[in-house]
Amino acid sequence: MQFTSLVALALAASVSALNITVLQPDVPLAPSPLPLPGAAKDCDEIVAAFANLGRTTVWNLVQKIKFQGDTYEPEGIVRIGDDRFYVSAGEYTAPTTSYGNNTVINGTDRQPGAGFAHIIVFDGNGTRVADATLTEDGAIEYHNGGIDYDGKYIWATIAEYRPNATATLIKIDPLTINVTTILHIADHQGGAVHDVDTGNVHMLNWGSRNVSTWNLNYVPAAYPEFTRPRSITRNPSYYTDYQDCKFLGHPAVYDYRGVMLCSGVTSIYNTSIGGLAIVDLKTMVPLAEVPITMKSDLGTLVTQNPVDVAIVDGKLRVYFLPDQHNSTLYVYEPLAASPFEFGGGFE
Ligand SMILES: *[C@@H]1O[C@H](CO)[C@@H](O)[C@H](O)[C@H]1NC(C)=O
Ligand SMILES: *[C@@H]1O[C@H](CO)[C@@H](O)[C@H](O)[C@H]1NC(C)=O
Ligand SMILES: *[C@@H]1O[C@H](CO)[C@@H](O)[C@H](O)[C@H]1NC(C)=O
Ligand SMILES: *[C@@H]1O[C@H](CO)[C@@H](O)[C@H](O)[C@H]1NC(C)=O
Ligand SMILES: *[C@@H]1O[C@H](CO)[C@@H](O)[C@H](O)[C@H]1NC(C)=O
Ligand SMILES: *[C@@H]1O[C@H](CO)[C@@H](O)[C@H](O)[C@H]1NC(C)=O
Ligand SMILES: *[C@@H]1O[C@H](CO)[C@@H](O)[C@H](O)[C@H]1NC(C)=O
Ligand SMILES: *[C@@H]1O[C@H](CO)[C@@H](O)[C@H](O)[C@H]1NC(C)=O
Ligand SMILES: *[C@@H]1O[C@H](CO)[C@@H](O)[C@H](O)[C@H]1NC(C)=O
Repeated sequence: MQFTSLVALALAASVSALNITVLQPDVPLAPSPLPLPGAAKDCDEIVAAFANLGRTTVWNLVQKIKFQGDTYEPEGIVRIGDDRFYVSAGEYTAPTTSYGNNTVINGTDRQPGAGFAHIIVFDGNGTRVADATLTEDGAIEYHNGGIDYDGKYIWATIAEYRPNATATLIKIDPLTINVTTILHIADHQGGAVHDVDTGNVHMLNWGSRNVSTWNLNYVPAAYPEFTRPRSITRNPSYYTDYQDCKFLGHPAVYDYRGVMLCSGVTSIYNTSIGGLAIVDLKTMVPLAEVPITMKSDLGTLVTQNPVDVAIVDGKLRVYFLPDQHNSTLYVYEPLAASPFEFGGGFE
């Protein structure tokens, strides 16, 4: 027994210290069998609904759910069926102080700081089911970024909380929160998306400036040796730094290209603007994008971090969890855009 657990620890390397606090002992973590992912299940409907969005779309707030307890900094969310939300969150116990004066050491510009990567499970009304930390005290990689759910696993990256550093791609079993380490990569990664049709996992780095792609049919280097991604592609768009993305599929309207739905923010001219986009997985080219201006009651742009999407009762629903520590889930449905949206605009 002891031998087995030691081997498991050695294999799982830095991302191994699952420390789970179960808050509702009588309820399962996730529904069994696991439901299909809401984003990918209704890809064609989501892409079609997105085509009706524009700058004048009125977003109707259909639900507001207070999430119980300290949510730290929420980074990603997946909705697993109607009664579960899994949130990836970062608990920070020491700040990442800048080296200052544009100093770069080992490719990065700040101290590592310290903290823990969390996965927090909530039921449909925001009550905590469990809170797990996935990293050990003192681990240099503790930043849990955007997440994706493929019907079987949640995909995530646990990274150093600084640009151009390192990250570990993992998958998490929602039924147990058991973590499997996939590979180690020599860049910060702030989110992962699994294309179930190609076996590609696409990882977005700091500010989603580059997408690094790995294919699960290949064997990565033995952990903790670094694995070179099969491709690294620069994001050609600077309108939104995507924070959390969900695999949608390979819809016919986009010539069967793999696409994801992403949300994020841009800060420019002392203003922050939110954005929601359908993005080509391989090239990061946005295929459709709209600005989002709603803010939470605490004043945070709703697209600040986590996003998920689903078709509920035939309508597009977008789920946002913007605030740190004391979080409320904002659920929106789009109403019709102005009839002049598609022929109008500035002249
Ligand atoms: C496990 O998590 C709990 C709650 O977050 C924390 O109080 C405790 O110190 C952690 N234990 C270890 C061994 O990390
Ligand atoms: C940055 O440079 C200035 C001027 O050279 C110096 O006074 C200051 O101490 C430096 N700060 C750091 C953090 O190195
Ligand atoms: C830079 O990397 C080297 C080699 O890995 C290491 O010894 C050194 O401590 C690092 N410096 C900092 C400031 O992290
Ligand atoms: C990233 O860090 C590596 C060293 O670890 C360095 O060679 C490279 O220039 C850095 N890249 C950027 C974009 O800063
Ligand atoms: C929240 O939902 C759970 C079942 O998912 C239920 O047991 C509980 O009573 C609900 N709590 C509230 C405040 O509605
Ligand atoms: C947890 O995942 C590891 C792989 O990382 C696997 O070997 C082990 O069987 C899993 N345990 C459970 C209880 O699913
Ligand atoms: C991002 O991609 C560009 C273009 O491939 C490359 O020059 C740059 O070094 C990459 N940045 C990092 C941090 O890997
Ligand atoms: C942003 O705000 C600062 C402080 O108010 C001001 O000095 C600066 O000019 C502003 N920048 C732009 C681009 O408006
Ligand atoms: C969360 O925010 C609400 C509304 O602002 C406030 O009433 C409540 O005390 C806050 N809770 C915590 C734990 O900070």
